[in-house]
Amino acid sequence: MSHFTELLRFILVMPETPISGDFILKDLPSSGKRIDILCRTLAACFDWAPEIWPKEKLEVMAVLMNSITLKFRMPPRLPLNEVEWASDIQRSLRGSPPEYITISHEDLNEAISHIKTEGGQIWVLEENGKPMHIVRSLKPAVKNSFMLGDHKGFDEYSAGLIKEHNLKTISLGKTSYLGSHCVAAVIARMERLLTDE
Ligand SMILES: C[S@@+](CC[C@H](N)C(=O)[O-])C[C@H]1O[C@@H](n2cnc3c(N)ncnc32)[C@H](O)[C@@H]1O
Repeated sequence: MSHFTELLRFILVMPETPISGDFILKDLPSSGKRIDILCRTLAACFDWAPEIWPKEKLEVMAVLMNSITLKFRMPPRLPLNEVEWASDIQRSLRGSPPEYITISHEDLNEAISHIKTEGGQIWVLEENGKPMHIVRSLKPAVKNSFMLGDHKGFDEYSAGLIKEHNLKTISLGKTSYLGSHCVAAVIARMERLLTDE
């Protein structure tokens, strides 16, 4: 088995999620305008989904309201549940992020442009995209970023950027899955590619 992996990144596009951090921890879906989706994505990426992919080579980016980007790397201590993840997100939005989260004023266009400049490959997860298992250019040794929509999919602005940047779409099947399940399925596929090498 080859152990050569590059960074595997997930970009969650959340145009409706407020950047104030003023949500109630006991009511994440409603008061947090679906911040729970981000919490579950984080748990999938850093906690329960990876089996062999090195956790230090995982990253989640969340672009909120197309104005604030949060970047998450492997936490030194894993939050135990959605509320603990949400509490760290809230601290970050209020200006005191824990060490594993960085916050910037990057919008989606800047985030995409930055990744492209770094030489990374961006894939858009979309039910009607090219089936993932037949995409031959997907390689664990390349910096791959997978972009996901929120509970409503991609808004008009993000869809426009996807076209403008000529990003490739990739599908896990015609069924619409939860974002966290998409993250787990992508990690499983990348791990399989790693062991098949
Ligand atoms: C819950 S789904 C969005 C819901 C659905 N698209 C809608 O508009 O009702 C959240 C995101 O997960 C990703 N996704 C869900 N199912 C997928 C699939 N079968 N293949 C690829 N991506 C998927 C897409 O990026 C989608 O925007």
